[in-house]
Amino acid sequence: MSELNFYTAGSTLDAKSALDVEALETIYRLEMSGEHFYNLLADRVGNEEAADLLRKNAVEERGHARRIARALSIKTGTEWSPTAEQEILLDAPMPDSIDAPLFLAVVKGEIDGDAGYQHWADLETNEDIARLLRLNGREETVHAGRAQQVYEILSR
Ligand SMILES: [Fe+2]
Ligand SMILES: [Fe+2]
Repeated sequence: MSELNFYTAGSTLDAKSALDVEALETIYRLEMSGEHFYNLLADRVGNEEAADLLRKNAVEERGHARRIARALSIKTGTEWSPTAEQEILLDAPMPDSIDAPLFLAVVKGEIDGDAGYQHWADLETNEDIARLLRLNGREETVHAGRAQQVYEILSR
């Protein structure tokens, strides 16, 4: 796991089957790291309006991690909490320039994130877990909208 970073961890998830405990734990780490990723961008974007939008996404990524922790508690039948190792954020190396085109890539990542969540919700047999996955997914599309706004602000 340690060789993975924020940009590559998602590729370890198997799209063909429902999320198992290990996959949900990877998503937990991705979401917690997503909060950090957005705050790093907000700190570097050099525009207050854009930074506010990015910090809103950051807060909601932490909420997504909380929903995944709930899903893990349901799946394991016991109150799930991360191990010390699972609490380590994935490395998210920042590009040299935080400019408009970067946010088009973020838009795509978020739209793909929604599609992934809806896909895994379809495969999920537990309705409560499926509902949590769909809630996260819908907010990823909201995040895509904010990233699109950041793109437009930086393109002015
Ligand atoms: Fe998320
Ligand atoms: Fe997101």
